[in-house]
Amino acid sequence: MSGRWALGPEVKRAAVAGGAMLYDTSRAGNLAPAWFDPAHWRARGELDGGAQGRATAHFINSADKRYVLRHYHRGGLMAHISRDRYSWRSEESSRPFAEWLLTYRMHRAGLPVPAPIGARYVRSGSTYTGDLITERLPTVGSLAECLGTGALSVVTWISIGRCIRRFHDLGVCHADLNAHNVLLSEEGVYLIDFDRGQLRGPGLWRDANLVRLRRSLDKVTWALPAERFAESDWHGLLDGYRQSSGGSALQSA
Ligand SMILES: Nc1ncnc2c1ncn2[C@@H]1O[C@H](COP(=O)(O)OP(=O)(O)O)[C@@H](O)[C@H]1O
Ligand SMILES: [Mg+2]
Repeated sequence: MSGRWALGPEVKRAAVAGGAMLYDTSRAGNLAPAWFDPAHWRARGELDGGAQGRATAHFINSADKRYVLRHYHRGGLMAHISRDRYSWRSEESSRPFAEWLLTYRMHRAGLPVPAPIGARYVRSGSTYTGDLITERLPTVGSLAECLGTGALSVVTWISIGRCIRRFHDLGVCHADLNAHNVLLSEEGVYLIDFDRGQLRGPGLWRDANLVRLRRSLDKVTWALPAERFAESDWHGLLDGYRQSSGGSALQSA
């Protein structure tokens, strides 16, 4: 690995058949390649069902592990061409390693993201497939799920805005900020799913992130009772966002 990521000594890279894996030995010292295979957990009776969405997230639930295992999958048109294969460029820019490394840095910086456990890619010719394991957060549900069951307090909308602002102040651009990637818990708000996320300098991408979230909220609530997502809710979120948190940017790599 190149030194620019300033990884701690707990981060280990190991070769696996056809590729490599990266993991946090302080959280999963005995991590084995089989951990990236849902069948491994299913055989042990430690699979807790999958998440909605593209059905690529598996919840692992054993005596001492609460993880989410995700296989990288394409959405949209490209899915017809190749469901889970990506063109190989480099290890660091592979989807799983890039997301693991970004999540590691965010977690170390104190941002509310799940701790990254392990990442793996497996190459085949000029393409690769990838998987990521993160800590499973003790959440009530995604923002989309919570809106499906009831309206949220304005305090919650404000804390969602504050949360997004903390990421933006550190220069973290979320490539797909939507109502499924904002998780709510008793302790607060988390963001997940940093596939293709980037560290960037200040710019219009911040507004673009918010616009994307707004569109997603309109979409997930359009068939719901009007009070689930009112204009005042969005203004609550923006108010929270505008209260500066004063963080300084993570250095972009
Ligand atoms: N660390 C986590 N803790 C709890 N739930 C999670 C976690 N990661 C993902 N989920 C759940 O799984 C769903 C899909 O995961 P996500 O990472 O967004 O993948 P994708 O959008 O590619 O399907 C999320 O909307 C959320 O409900
Ligand atoms: Mg998602």
